[in-house]
Amino acid sequence: MSDKIDLGPQGFVYPMPMTLVGADLESGPSFMPIAWINRIQFNPPRIAAGMNAAHATNAGIREHGEFSVCTPSVDLIAATDWCGLVSAARGVDKSAAFTVWRGALEHAPLIAECPLALECRVSQVVDLGSHELFVADIVGTWTEERFLGADGKPDISKLQPFVLTMPDNRSWAVGEQVGKAWSDGRGFEPDARA
Ligand SMILES: Cc1cc2nc3c(=O)[nH]c(=O)nc-3n(C[C@H](O)[C@H](O)[C@H](O)COP(=O)(O)O)c2cc1C
Repeated sequence: MSDKIDLGPQGFVYPMPMTLVGADLESGPSFMPIAWINRIQFNPPRIAAGMNAAHATNAGIREHGEFSVCTPSVDLIAATDWCGLVSAARGVDKSAAFTVWRGALEHAPLIAECPLALECRVSQVVDLGSHELFVADIVGTWTEERFLGADGKPDISKLQPFVLTMPDNRSWAVGEQVGKAWSDGRGFEPDARA
C-alpha cells in the first residue's frame, strides 16, 4: 500500500446526485440545487439532506416542515446551476425558471420540467453546526410514462440525471450500465481476485 496518498479529512463522496430542493418561502416557491442528499431508509421511505442553515430555503422548510426533491435532467444544467448562484434572500424569484405545480403536499413545490420529483415531510432536523440535516419521509413520487422502463420503474437512461464531483465542481452525465446489484456478487469467490 506504499503508493497510496493520504488526502486528509476531505468530503470526497464520488459522485453525488444533483437535485433541486423546492420549498415555500414568504416570497413564494423557491428552489436550490443540493448534492448532499441521499435515501437513508427503505420503509417508510426516508431521505436526508444536508443544507447550510443560513440558506433562505432552509427557513421555508423549517416553517412548513415540507419540501420537494426534484431530479433535473442534463438539459436543466444551466437552470440548476443558476439556482445555486443566486439567493431568494436577495429577492431573486427562482420559480421563474420553471413551471411550478403541486402534488399532495401544500408546501412542496414541484418542477414540471424535472422528470422525477419527490414530496417530502420533515421528520427530524439535526443541527450539525453550519448545516442542518433534514430527515424526511417521502410521501409522494411523480414522474411521467415516458420516463419509465419496461418494468414500470423510472429508467435512468430516460431520466438523464447528472451528478456532481467536489471539490472540482464538475457536472457529469451518467454512463453506461456496468452491472446488476444484488446479483453480480453471486458466485463470487474471494480467493479468485484478479
Ligand atoms: C452544484 C451545486 C450544489 C450545491 N449543493 C449544496 C448542498 O448540497 N447543500 C447546501 O447547503 N448548498 C448547496 N449548494 C449551494 C446552494 O444551492 C446555494 O447557496 C443557493 O443559492 C441557496 O439558495 P437560497 O439562498 O435561495 O436558499 C449547491 C450549489 C450548487 C451550485
